[in-house]
Amino acid sequence: MKIISSPQLLQEEIIKLKRKGNTIGFVPTMGYLHDGHLSLIRRARKDCDVVVVSIFVNPLQFGPREDLKKYPRNFKKDSALCKKYTDILFYPNVREMYPDDFLTEIEVNKLSNVLCGASRPGHFKGVATVVNKLFNIIFPDMAYFGQKDAQQAVIIKKMVKDLNIPADIKVMPTVREKDGLAMSSRNSYLSRQERGDAAVLYRSLILAKNMVKKGATDSNKIISKMRNLILNKKSAKIDYISIVNPETLDPLKKMNKQALVLLAVFVGKTRLIDNILIRR
Ligand code: PAF
Repeated sequence: MKIISSPQLLQEEIIKLKRKGNTIGFVPTMGYLHDGHLSLIRRARKDCDVVVVSIFVNPLQFGPREDLKKYPRNFKKDSALCKKYTDILFYPNVREMYPDDFLTEIEVNKLSNVLCGASRPGHFKGVATVVNKLFNIIFPDMAYFGQKDAQQAVIIKKMVKDLNIPADIKVMPTVREKDGLAMSSRNSYLSRQERGDAAVLYRSLILAKNMVKKGATDSNKIISKMRNLILNKKSAKIDYISIVNPETLDPLKKMNKQALVLLAVFVGKTRLIDNILIRR
């Protein structure tokens, strides 16, 4: 596995590999890798000739009062984890990605301002900008994202479509702990008590799924039951629970053939997100 930190050197290397006819599979990450990331990397290995993983904690997607400084990092462990399946590990520093004279931003309107975008203004602009930049350095044939970040996946797909970016976006299932908690680098912030409480997020999504199975159609009723279940946990504070169209992210008053149930909940000080796609 080659470790490259210069965007320009990586771009040159990729151009050579593509000229030889190789397909490129790309997994963008912010590091502190867990089984969720590894499932994306393994899938890229299956699908493509060359696998590129990036590790970059992107400052543009953090708000001024968010956890950029304390975001967990462990490059040594991450590179050891990647080694088996990865050909190139891209590990740029902030100056290389955003020199002092950097001015350009990408915004996917409407989709970026709802749900997590309403609670985290500017977050998805930061995500779209860095992903666009990474795509322009790596020219992936296929790029892999987790369903856990459902809104992010919808926004990236839209950006790729709108800007004619020739990359196939693959969204892979959420990988969960035994008790259902979606894997996330931020789970490492949770105390023992909070870690136990955090399992309620997934339980509330299963509650929604079971209600729909039994015939419930009114989104408000479903949300209200989920809310009550989550608020049983002392450490939990709900940011939002929403039921939306999985492609447009428009709210659904009644359950459709397909609905995406999303939530963001603070467990202690840690903001966790999760979602479930429900088909009737
Ligand atoms: O999902 C993430 O880890 C990040 O938002 C991404 C896609 C790597 C962009 O920084």
